[in-house]
Amino acid sequence: ASAVVDQGDPRDWVDKMEKNNKRCTMFYGSQTGTAEEYAIRLAKEAKSKFGISSLVCDPEEYDFAKLDAVSPDKVVFFVVATYGEGEPTDNAQEFMEFIMDPDVEFSQGREGDDKLSNLRYVVFGLGNRTYEHYNEVARKIDKRLTELGAQRIGERGEGDDDKSMEEDYLGWKDNMWHALSADLQIEEGAGGDVADFAVTELGPDSELPVDKIYHGELSARALLGTKGTHDLKNPYLAPIKVARELFSVDADRNCVHVEFDIKDSGMTYQHGDHCGVWPSNPDVEVERMLCVLGLTEKRHVAISIDSLDPTLAKVPFPTPATYEAIFRHYIDISATASRQALAMLAQFAPTPDAAAKLLKLGTDKDYYHEHVDGPSLKLAEVLQHVAGDDAEAVPNVENTTAWKQIPFDRIISSISRLQPRYYSISSSSKLYPDAIHITAVVLKYESKASSAHKGKTRWVYGVGTNFILNVKAAHAGEAAPLMSEKGNKAPNIVSSTAGSGFNTPTYRISGPRDAHFKAGSYLVPIHVRRSTFRLPTSPKVPVIMIGPGTGVAPFRGFVQERLAAAKRTIEKAGPGATPEETLKDWADMYLFYGCRKEDEDFLYSEEWPEYIQGLGGKFHLECAFSRGGKRKPDGSKIYVQDLVWGLRDTLTKLILEKRAYVYICGDAKHMAKSVEEMLMQMLGEAKGGSAEVEGAKELKLLKERNVSVFHPF
Ligand code: 2AM
Repeated sequence: ASAVVDQGDPRDWVDKMEKNNKRCTMFYGSQTGTAEEYAIRLAKEAKSKFGISSLVCDPEEYDFAKLDAVSPDKVVFFVVATYGEGEPTDNAQEFMEFIMDPDVEFSQGREGDDKLSNLRYVVFGLGNRTYEHYNEVARKIDKRLTELGAQRIGERGEGDDDKSMEEDYLGWKDNMWHALSADLQIEEGAGGDVADFAVTELGPDSELPVDKIYHGELSARALLGTKGTHDLKNPYLAPIKVARELFSVDADRNCVHVEFDIKDSGMTYQHGDHCGVWPSNPDVEVERMLCVLGLTEKRHVAISIDSLDPTLAKVPFPTPATYEAIFRHYIDISATASRQALAMLAQFAPTPDAAAKLLKLGTDKDYYHEHVDGPSLKLAEVLQHVAGDDAEAVPNVENTTAWKQIPFDRIISSISRLQPRYYSISSSSKLYPDAIHITAVVLKYESKASSAHKGKTRWVYGVGTNFILNVKAAHAGEAAPLMSEKGNKAPNIVSSTAGSGFNTPTYRISGPRDAHFKAGSYLVPIHVRRSTFRLPTSPKVPVIMIGPGTGVAPFRGFVQERLAAAKRTIEKAGPGATPEETLKDWADMYLFYGCRKEDEDFLYSEEWPEYIQGLGGKFHLECAFSRGGKRKPDGSKIYVQDLVWGLRDTLTKLILEKRAYVYICGDAKHMAKSVEEMLMQMLGEAKGGSAEVEGAKELKLLKERNVSVFHPF
């Protein structure tokens, strides 16, 4: 008889810990990958500090009834993000339901506050102070586990994504490790400096089988060309149907509208969903990295990367891949260099002076803020600068190879994986079943002045939107887009298409080696992320949408969705039916939209009249133009919330009597706050009370029912 290897229950993580000799398990509640990155970092640090190894786990895949079976010499970490109205991420939802159940039962069936008396845990939350429910998920988990008799190690960590996530993490972790070492009675320094990956050079990619080397493919399926459903783990390479600029002001502020073709993809979406777009890095940063590390001439050499601790690499690195593909497609080399990476890399510095500078940047928070974080310097720029190279010059093989002694595995482990960027879908699948539309303002801002750039400021370009802008230009057969000439020049442009130094960073959007380039056109990897933002199913429920700027994106989809339903209803009513007559029982739909100038950045201005007509007068568009238009008597700007106030009688009736749905989308910090205050004021007034008491109460009720505040990504 053949022996059957007992793999155990795949959902039993406690068993897995025992069998594989793990001291910790890190569960991550992650939506876009940030919490997962932190979980992995904690696991790596446990290894390098104490020499103990960990499991990093997606809570969705494991059985939490086992929480009471972890032995007390082990520790369970919860690294969890909080979303919107205090919600957990999708992958942590089931866990939250399980643990919050008042009658929760665990595998060993102990009772009362003894249920989890065995459990030692650590919590780090990722939240955003802009929202009311700051880090609520982490707080709830912490409170609940304590209630059940578990014991927290160290303080609960809370990171603020609005301002200081990285610093909050760094500020928290040392004390936590301290507490953990005391609790588990383990010594620091037992681990030593260990590599996470084993890297082997295989030779030039041209000598190896093409279907074995990754050149930007995001999954094994994509590499092998096999079919399968498309999702986060297997994005679809989408052709671009349409890409156009909605506005472009002084070549300085622009907004792109892109339509991805999903006709043959098997993908579906709903209005209100998000589209994840997987960008690649701009040429200039790819070249800079290659140069700094002395890899320019080896760009097409394929390397294999094996994780030395596979449990730490849940999403395996696409490997083997070429050096160039790794920099272009797989790691986030455009991000600001992290303090931890700088401190770690000091040991590989070419001179004692460079080592001292890196160490200072890595350990002195204020110095780091002034010289790296403020001016948004990328890792390779910092390396150039501290080695005495000119971070402004075009990198080439001669001028910067000072850092070739850094082992490549350290580069991979100190830079995060390149993650998808999310955008609100701005179309309705009822109207456009074969296309996903997105609407994005191209992100670009001026950094603080830095010594690396001779005391000057410079432009910092958002990776996702500039990538889209470049794809758009390529699609239209244009040269790489021109941007501000009144500002200072973009740093270090090296590109085949852009001659001058005044362009946005360009991206390689052609080339036989690029996996995204197929049959003469560039394809963009995308996937759909489901959301809970939906219209009420009945068209008889009124809808109030407030979305200035690109906050209008999902609402274009909402209006299209109702328009599609209207068209069907009118068709069914037979020939000669008018929208006005057919839709007379339908509820009103209000959209409050704001932008700067009517003739400048008014998004989709040509489309709205068609929607108004198609919905037979049930759709009302109220526009606030903040610059150059009318002003309030006191001279201040008119914003969406002022228009809401102007219509307060109608709107409060819709909300209080007709149970209207209210949605706010856009800048959460300022606009959404002001709008909520305005809602409290008018609801309070309608109830014959104050904004603070009655108004706040009504807003709370409204939120529990359906008000949604969400944000364009
Ligand atoms: P402003 O830039 O002229 O101040 C889209 O960005 C629109 O939102 C612009 O018209 C912008 O106006 C406006 N806006 C800026 N701050 C706002 C706030 N706190 N509340 C509402 N609208 C705001």
